[in-house]
Amino acid sequence: MRYLVTGTAGFVGSHLAEQLLAQGSEVVGVDAFLDNYSRERKLSQLTGALEHPGFRLVEGLLQEIDLAGLLEGVDHVFHLAAVPGVRPSWGKAFQDYADNNLLATQRLLEACREREVPRLVYASSSSVYGDTDQLPMHEDALTLPFSPYGVTKLAAEHMVRLYYRNFGLETVSLRYFTVYGSRQRPDMAIQRFLLAAAEGSSVTVFGDGEQSRDFTHVADIVDATLRAAARGTPGRVYNVGGGSRVTVNELLALIEQVTGRRLSVERTPAKPGDVRATLADCSSARQDLDFSPRVSLKEGLEEQWAWLNSLAGRASQ
Ligand SMILES: NC(=O)c1ccc[n+]([C@@H]2O[C@H](COP(=O)([O-])OP(=O)(O)OC[C@H]3O[C@@H](n4cnc5c(N)ncnc54)[C@H](O)[C@@H]3O)[C@@H](O)[C@H]2O)c1
Repeated sequence: MRYLVTGTAGFVGSHLAEQLLAQGSEVVGVDAFLDNYSRERKLSQLTGALEHPGFRLVEGLLQEIDLAGLLEGVDHVFHLAAVPGVRPSWGKAFQDYADNNLLATQRLLEACREREVPRLVYASSSSVYGDTDQLPMHEDALTLPFSPYGVTKLAAEHMVRLYYRNFGLETVSLRYFTVYGSRQRPDMAIQRFLLAAAEGSSVTVFGDGEQSRDFTHVADIVDATLRAAARGTPGRVYNVGGGSRVTVNELLALIEQVTGRRLSVERTPAKPGDVRATLADCSSARQDLDFSPRVSLKEGLEEQWAWLNSLAGRASQ
């Protein structure tokens, strides 16, 4: 099988590409190396894939590159490229979100339709649900995004479904709930907290810390994504959560336990776009994909902490 992975140099995309290669597949990876974090870091995330003979990297924007050529011989598309992050999606930056998350998706879908690509899996987000107290979140619940980022992820999700309903391109969308683990993006809470523990610097917590998230380890996300490609029902949307509801204050305590370091916490007001709670109802993914998360939050934090320390060890050599 040959797969196209968009956003392949990113946190989740690099893990997915490696897993596909490990299973003996060929992977064409595309990434524009956007500057949400450094090019060096993204390239280093691709080290394993680039060493593999089955991997080919194409650098460029989905809005600009020759997609017909890129899709030549491709069996399935995993569409993970997007500008992520809720907080920076206000103001002028929204243009980037609209271009990369929505317009790029529409161009990719058109190319898939023309090339008659059989199947596309889209990485959507729990942020499509918005700030709700209807927990756990079920796929049939009302979607009322609370941030411009969430609006673009929901709009692209609708677009993806349209190409199934109108043209038979088999699409499956996955609503990922807060992903963590090795290579987590530097703007995300767990990575910021672990780095502060490593460096002995203080951490900034937005709001009272009683906001909660369903944290999902990247290994479980990759597992669910592969299952969606293999057996997801076309046109459907599935939640992918890690199975626990943890407040930021509880997370800080767990991080102190895992790292054996005390964290010094500075509190600032909550940011616009941040929701109070997320929690996935994963019964649809369990039923259709036979998916259940396997990595507990403590195990996942230990894995991410070990990875962070291995990077520090390499840097000091
Ligand atoms: N990390 C999470 O907690 C989380 C949660 C829900 C959904 N998601 C979704 O999962 C996907 C991956 O997120 P991530 O955390 O790995 O982010 P990331 O920033 O690490 O990876 C995304 C990659 O896509 C690339 N990219 C963006 N727009 C592009 C374009 N137009 N053309 C080519 N490349 C482009 C970027 O350069 C980047 O390397 C995104 O679609 C995101 O919305 C992530």
